[in-house]
Amino acid sequence: MLDVAVLVSGRGSNLQALIDACAADDFPARIVAVISNNPGSYGLERAKLAGIPTAVVNHRDYEDRESFDNAIDEELKKFKAKFICLAGFMRILEARFVNRWRDRILNIHPSLLPSFKGLHTQERALESGVRFTGCTVHIVRPEMDEGPIILQAAVAVDPEDDADSLAEKVLIQEHLIYPEALKLIALGRVSISGNRSIIEKAEYPKEALISPALTD
Ligand code: GAR
Repeated sequence: MLDVAVLVSGRGSNLQALIDACAADDFPARIVAVISNNPGSYGLERAKLAGIPTAVVNHRDYEDRESFDNAIDEELKKFKAKFICLAGFMRILEARFVNRWRDRILNIHPSLLPSFKGLHTQERALESGVRFTGCTVHIVRPEMDEGPIILQAAVAVDPEDDADSLAEKVLIQEHLIYPEALKLIALGRVSISGNRSIIEKAEYPKEALISPALTD
């Protein structure tokens, strides 16, 4: 059983997808804590409703990134977390923290990385005229929105889409691939080789359009 802490900043719908997945008896991970930098995050409520311990580490209370990161680290130790899922966590973690947790931090991003790193992904996808966009679950490296890709799901961009409708379609896929990626990692089926991940014996959720290129 992999003991996971989930870090959230906002509404926490990806956290909810992880909570729901972990509720299944045979899911190989469990959430030991939900930590937020934002005391108003609805993710904290979702955790409480699910009976999961919470902590707030408000970035405004720390004078620099290093002391904020160290405070997060303290909480992770307290809850004995062995793995971290970032789920709409909108603070940048410094290299020292990321390297301390190397290969043990997972993130979800609402684009097909390496396209559209950063913020306002759907607006930029629309402006660029891409026919497909999607979402990516990846291992976190110190550079923002970089690191070995575990799973991706693509959605078609329709001519009538605006940023909100596109975000909605992408979010449906996010909720499918994030728990699936965590499951594969917790089962020990993912190995990292350079900037790529290799997945053994993946069984993808049928609803998601995921490239099986890196599987055997
Ligand atoms: C999600 O779309 C997630 O991919 C994105 O924030 C949203 C959080 O929603 N994350 C990022 O942009 C990180 N770079 P949620 O709080 O409902 O899960």
